[in-house]
Amino acid sequence: MGKFSKILVVGSAGQIGSELTMELRKIYGNNNVIAGVRKTAPSEKLKNSGPFEVVDAVNKEQLIEVVKKHNVDCIINMAAILSATGEADPKHAWNVNMNGLINILDVALEYKMKQVLVPSSIAVFGPETPKNAPQETILKPTTMYGVTKVSGELLADYYVRKFGLDVRGLRYPGIISNETLPGGGTTDYAVAIYYEAIKNKKYTCFVKEDTRLPMMYMPDCLKATCDLMEADFTKLKHHSDFNVGAMSFTVKDMADSIKKYIPEFQISYEPDFRQKIADSWPDSVDDTAAREEWGWKPSYNLDAMTQDMLKVIGEKHKNELI
Ligand code: SER
Repeated sequence: MGKFSKILVVGSAGQIGSELTMELRKIYGNNNVIAGVRKTAPSEKLKNSGPFEVVDAVNKEQLIEVVKKHNVDCIINMAAILSATGEADPKHAWNVNMNGLINILDVALEYKMKQVLVPSSIAVFGPETPKNAPQETILKPTTMYGVTKVSGELLADYYVRKFGLDVRGLRYPGIISNETLPGGGTTDYAVAIYYEAIKNKKYTCFVKEDTRLPMMYMPDCLKATCDLMEADFTKLKHHSDFNVGAMSFTVKDMADSIKKYIPEFQISYEPDFRQKIADSWPDSVDDTAAREEWGWKPSYNLDAMTQDMLKVIGEKHKNELI
């Protein structure tokens, strides 16, 4: 039994939300974790294992209805428009990412939530940030996604300071996973490369081979999120902006790792507008604060992740699920 009785995950159909909802159901009980979806229907797995509700955080009334109906005492906000999609419609990104967040924070205050978890991202960094991003550093992002994530961190910390609300967040690096595809991010190539390696034995990457970014495998992402949720609030000096690192590699490193298991794999490069976004982000992050304040420690390195990704996606392909 964890510290919450009812958790609402907003954005449950997404890459992280879909797996985080299942992970939380394991910890807190299937009926105690509500999968909140906006318009994408939840997967069969999510639908059949526990409650789900249509909830768009931008619609405060709808959010309140769901919170009241289930007596929610913790909200996790996984809904966001990511870096690449955000550039096509920056105002939409601002609306979803900021108005969705402030509604969640206000509803959390009004209905006396025990906790709100709002992830942030390496997108808070910009070209002036040192390449191994310190915890405290220059935050001058060049994307609207980054602008909303910096603003979101400041807003969340403001609610902690001003109202005593327990809000927590961590700056996810690029997340690599094999259950739900990511949508609209710059780091999506690090997922696509594995699917294409299995399906076609080749991949054309939209960033250059020497592009190096901080990355993390989904099991570590789930662990980081659940560990931060469980951490003792009184021990936290930071709240909404923890750097969390796991790995740092170039696209060439990924291709070489795949070639160890699929020797005929071929990669080519056709950089597009996402190259500039990738170049504005750091190579790695210093996550000493997360390690010291709540014991963060990742498990996967590149080769361990490659083996697991190829195995899982290979099985899906054999069973014609992709
Ligand atoms: N994966 C995100 C993106 O590429 C970064 O947080 O936008």
